[in-house]
Amino acid sequence: MTADRDGGQERRALIVGASRGLGLGIVARLLERDWHVTATVRRPSAALTDVAARAARLRIVTDLDIDDDAAVAALWSSLKAEAPFDMVFVVAGVATQAGTPAGQMPRDVAGRVFQTNAISPIRFAETFRKRVAPGGLIVLMTSKLGSVSLNQGGGWSSYRASKAALNTLARSFAGQYATADWGVVLMHPGWVRTDLGGRRATLDVETSVRGMVAVLEGRLDQGPKDGCAFLDYQGQTVPW
Ligand SMILES: NC(=O)c1ccc[n+]([C@@H]2O[C@H](COP(=O)([O-])OP(=O)(O)OC[C@H]3O[C@@H](n4cnc5c(N)ncnc54)[C@H](OP(=O)(O)O)[C@@H]3O)[C@@H](O)[C@H]2O)c1
Repeated sequence: MTADRDGGQERRALIVGASRGLGLGIVARLLERDWHVTATVRRPSAALTDVAARAARLRIVTDLDIDDDAAVAALWSSLKAEAPFDMVFVVAGVATQAGTPAGQMPRDVAGRVFQTNAISPIRFAETFRKRVAPGGLIVLMTSKLGSVSLNQGGGWSSYRASKAALNTLARSFAGQYATADWGVVLMHPGWVRTDLGGRRATLDVETSVRGMVAVLEGRLDQGPKDGCAFLDYQGQTVPW
């Protein structure tokens, strides 16, 4: 945290993948909660620019594709002299050809889904772990669909597997840095009406992001916890 003008404490967040959907909603909710937010996008987002026009505490960084190591390194360099973040939240994700069974999907498409949903978030966490404040959180957006034990009916198989891979990589990452003074959270936002979630989803963005932010602020208030938590937007633990 950094001291504000009145001597209080202000929280700082880095939100990765904020052009639309849940990332955009998380930025808006954190600003309502008086956080200072740095939000990244691949290309300019009119919706995020609109939020920035109304919020002095929002800084937008463009040209950040999480699959691009050089872009991630450039972001790290541009932020390394600043105060650390209380929360680094990698929201970006894809569900390309989610309806195609994994065994029938072109290899390169399946590979890209795994890169973006599993490998890139962990690489981002590895790069940015030294930019997390003591007692802070690295949060990775996963899905209940990534739960192996809850997978009864299949469907969205490559997406599911990519999120299951992310979950396992996040547990390994948390174990690798077990003595760190920050924590790791895998977050399931619920089934939310976004481009990815579709129109039939049960939740609106506002309900999901209000829940997630409340859960994460509560977690920050409690202080660091060991291991890797797998939580939903209501704070319930999701089975692995
Ligand atoms: N909606 C749901 O029901 C639901 C449920 C469970 C989990 N999730 C997860 O929640 C996260 C956000 O999903 P959403 O529903 O908000 O989907 P969305 O509306 O489709 O938004 C996806 C976001 O990810 C960004 N993104 C994709 N690939 C990227 C890359 N390589 N580098 C940087 N940014 C990238 C997109 O940026 P561009 O605008 O540049 O494409 C966009 O901001 C995803 O990880 C998703 O798997 C969603």
